[in-house]
Amino acid sequence: MILLINGEIMDRFDYTSDLEDGKMNTEVGYYNDISIIEEEEYMKKFRCMDYAVEYLNNELLGTFFRQGLKFGIYKIIDLHMPTKENLLSMVEYPNKDFILKYVNTAISLGLIRENYDDNTLELNNEFKYSSIHPKYQDLMDDYIAQYDFRTSLFQYALIGYNHPEILLNFKKDADIWDMLLNTEFMDITRSAASEVLEIKKGDYILDVGCGSRSPLYFSSKIAPNGQYTGVDISKKLITMAENRLERNGIECAKLKTLDFGETIPKTKYDSVICTHTLSYAKSPRLFLRKMMDSLKKNGKLIIIEEFFKDSANVNVELFEFYQSLNKYFIGYLSRSEVIDTLELLGYGFKYKFLGNCGLLIEKIN
Ligand SMILES: C[S@@+](CC[C@H](N)C(=O)[O-])C[C@H]1O[C@@H](n2cnc3c(N)ncnc32)[C@H](O)[C@@H]1O
Repeated sequence: MILLINGEIMDRFDYTSDLEDGKMNTEVGYYNDISIIEEEEYMKKFRCMDYAVEYLNNELLGTFFRQGLKFGIYKIIDLHMPTKENLLSMVEYPNKDFILKYVNTAISLGLIRENYDDNTLELNNEFKYSSIHPKYQDLMDDYIAQYDFRTSLFQYALIGYNHPEILLNFKKDADIWDMLLNTEFMDITRSAASEVLEIKKGDYILDVGCGSRSPLYFSSKIAPNGQYTGVDISKKLITMAENRLERNGIECAKLKTLDFGETIPKTKYDSVICTHTLSYAKSPRLFLRKMMDSLKKNGKLIIIEEFFKDSANVNVELFEFYQSLNKYFIGYLSRSEVIDTLELLGYGFKYKFLGNCGLLIEKIN
């Protein structure tokens, strides 16, 4: 693929901006943009989100190890050097699938070793905590704190995935999600999306997997003449959002309860927002196609996740281990998967990487 950077043609991955220490690595593909030289104000927000995720990675690693310790997994391995099968019968909790997932994640992280010859497990004494040093002043405590809630569900998952204390279901546990969506981390996500898209009065915007908090935030920015359409599979989250809109006298928002993978886009929008939703899509390809089909020519799609797999400075398997307690979670994507999928689908587009967590796509035909 050929890229145009500031008017020059280059191969797709030939260009990596060489920014001074501490600045984001902002790669641009087929994008005429001066932000390579002058960092945009909104990049501070993307950097802030990246730091929070990197810091959390260390916290999760500690928690993950302590949980295995607390529930006796490492002790059994140390004493008996069991195979995975033997270990599962020795750990006295019923959810064997979850315990197996724990062991596989611990192997992948290098905490445990599986011997190739006889498949026995042993502790990896050479394991070292790799410490990442984010800029602590940029950290957002409430993002870290809400993960404490998620990791505390470990003990219930040992009993069964359907344990009543595992309150992460978008449909049943909308009240918990309403709180989880109300963090500084999520606020920064929304304002970063709004700034990158340059959302203004009169815009038409579609928000995919809008949840309960974003509808009021974004529709206030385009009111009264614009149109905000928010779709979400959770009727309860949609109802909460509708109540908020009504209390604030906002009339330019239309909210729909539906699975976005099953929609047929009719309206064309200036912007499509997909924040912290793509990792729940059963078919990311279908999701991406529908989002692109919903855009006008030169319309923009912003995707923000906690991170993209191919750019993040974190242990992806740790996040996936805890996220998998939510049955809707499918997995994090890499930026190249998104770009390659859009190319395969035949769209003409420009793209821009925003830190490790953001991807801006502009549809050009
Ligand atoms: C982590 S929340 C993010 C909410 C919102 N985008 C925000 O940034 O505040 C993920 C949302 O995606 C919704 N969701 C998941 N899968 C979906 C699907 N297939 N179609 C529509 N919404 C979906 C969930 O109900 C949930 O509200």
